[in-house]
Parts: sequence; C-alpha cells; structure tokens
Amino acid sequence: MTAKTLRVAVTRRLPASVEARLADLFETKLHHQDAPLAPAALIALAQDVDVLAPTLGDKLDAAFFDAAGARLRLIANFGAGTDHIDVAAANARGVIVTNTPSVLAEDAADMAMALILAVPRRLVEGVRALEAGAFHGWSPTWMLGRRVRGKKLGIIGLGRVGEAIARRARAFGLSIHYHNRSPINPHIEEALEATYWDSLDQMLARVDIVSINCPHTPATFHLLSRRRLELLQPQAYVVNISRGEIVDEEALATMIEEGRLAGAGLDVYERGAPSEKLLKAPNVVLLPHMASATVESRIEMGERMIINIKMFADGHKPPDRVILGLDQDRAPDAG
Ligand code: DGY
Repeated sequence: MTAKTLRVAVTRRLPASVEARLADLFETKLHHQDAPLAPAALIALAQDVDVLAPTLGDKLDAAFFDAAGARLRLIANFGAGTDHIDVAAANARGVIVTNTPSVLAEDAADMAMALILAVPRRLVEGVRALEAGAFHGWSPTWMLGRRVRGKKLGIIGLGRVGEAIARRARAFGLSIHYHNRSPINPHIEEALEATYWDSLDQMLARVDIVSINCPHTPATFHLLSRRRLELLQPQAYVVNISRGEIVDEEALATMIEEGRLAGAGLDVYERGAPSEKLLKAPNVVLLPHMASATVESRIEMGERMIINIKMFADGHKPPDRVILGLDQDRAPDAG
C-alpha cells in the first residue's frame, strides 16, 4: 500500500498546516468541527480507514475496537496522554497505538511553573481585585502571599515534563524532591540536586508544593487520595497539569475550603471541568486544560503524529509506539 492509498481519518480540527500536510501525504478525511464525536460516529469513522488520528476526549475502549473492524491498523493519537485509549485492547486486535511525546514538555512545564508562582503569590486574585476596583494604593499588609524561593517542590513523576519543571524551579530557588517507581539517571539527579523519595507518603509530609506529572493509569487513579492529601502540611500547595483523575478532587476542594491546605493550581479536573466546590474554593487558580496550548506545540504534535503515520505507511515501526508496561508504568508525563 502506498502512503497515498492509506486512508486516515482525523477526529478534530487540527492546525491548518498539519491538516494540509496530512492531505498531501495520505487519503485523508479531515474533521472541521471542534467538538468530540459521539461514540457511534467515532466507530463509523474508524470502520472505513487504516489509521484513526484521535485526541483527548475520544474514548477508544474495548467495545470501540470490537466494532471498528479489521481495516483499522493504527491509532495515531494527537497528544501525549493515552488514558482515553484501551491500548491493551488495541494491541490484542493487532492495532498499534502511537502518541506525541516530548514536543509539548517545555510548554507544559512553563504553565506548571506559572501555577507554582501564581498560587502562592496570589496573581489571579490581584488581577481580579484590580479589575473590581478594589485597589486603592500600595499597602504594607495587602495581598500578602507566600515566598516561593527556598521552598521544597515535590514532583510526582519525574519524566520529561517533570524534569523540565524541575529545571525551571531550580532557577526560582526551589529544592527538588521527586517520587518515581525508581530513581532517574544519576547524572540528571545530580544536575538537579534532586532528592529521590521511594515513599510517596514520606515525600508528601515534607514538601511545600506538590506537582503532579505522572500519567493517569489504573494504578495512579486517586494517587493523591484523601489520606495522602492529609499527609501534606497545611501550608502546602498542589499543582496538577497532568490528569484530574490522579487527585481526589472533592477531598482537595474540602481541605482548601477548610484551610487544611493552602491552595491549588490546576489545569485538569477529575470530571473534565472543575466541580462547583472547586470553583468556589479560595486560593485556587483554575485553568481550562491549556498547559500545552501554544501554536508551536500543536504544530509539533501534528508533525510528530504525521511521522508516526508515515513510518507505518512505509512499512516501518512508528517511533512513538505506546508500549504497555513501559510508557505507562515508568511514571513519566501525561503532559
Ligand atoms: C496531552 O497531550 O495528553 C496533553 O494533556 C495535552 O495538553
């Protein structure tokens, strides 16, 4: 099969240059609406193609793969996280799954760092107060936040994004602590002067800011459970740009409301959007899943996705295959 006869379907609108390149290379069915397809429409689309290029929000479970039919051979996900795809079910039916790792790590880390600064320094609250006409001149006691320099940052999942956050945090005078399944390369650990904690519980009890950067898998669902959140010190902050399901959001919102945690900076939510309780909680900065949202990152994600499809079309193994037990278990980044 030549690349041009390979049928590719995209499930969402993508950057124009990415769509143009896809259409040049393959027989491509683009998707101009920017809303997720209903499950039945997703199946109908997949039944007719060799490659499906889905993204976050497209739930590809075992039932999807049962219904998709034999033609489908590759799922070229536009995005790093693949928790919306049942990779085991895909592989069991001979379907390869690829993602777009690395290209969004630096942009995502910028946003995590922005949250690490914004919550303790009350950045959004200050902007809102000014806009509401509540600023009447500098005062020694108004809008006091907490100093960031000298604090301990605990990173859960020191993969690509976690490492990029750690580099930034070092420049802001934070010390780096991390919890992974196993320690990272000693040269990187040394360069970051990072402290490895085998026990997540012990790390949580000692850090001032927690940054969640592991993927969402069955093993990391509610990794920050109520019990673990209670291990944090009351002056601690939680930052999450990975996946909402990793934190017990209800417990987090309650603890912030009751002053048992200092605040949170979140880009992702357990049920897609923040709960009412979280929206009303004090000391929170809530973003609409935009950590990797730069023009550059989206184009590079598209290029990476195209490379995977092209390699597959040429009869090679696509470079970014999602390997169960490797990508999902070594606690890297979901972006
Ligand atoms: C991803 O690629 O999985 C990210 O969450 C997008 O920001």
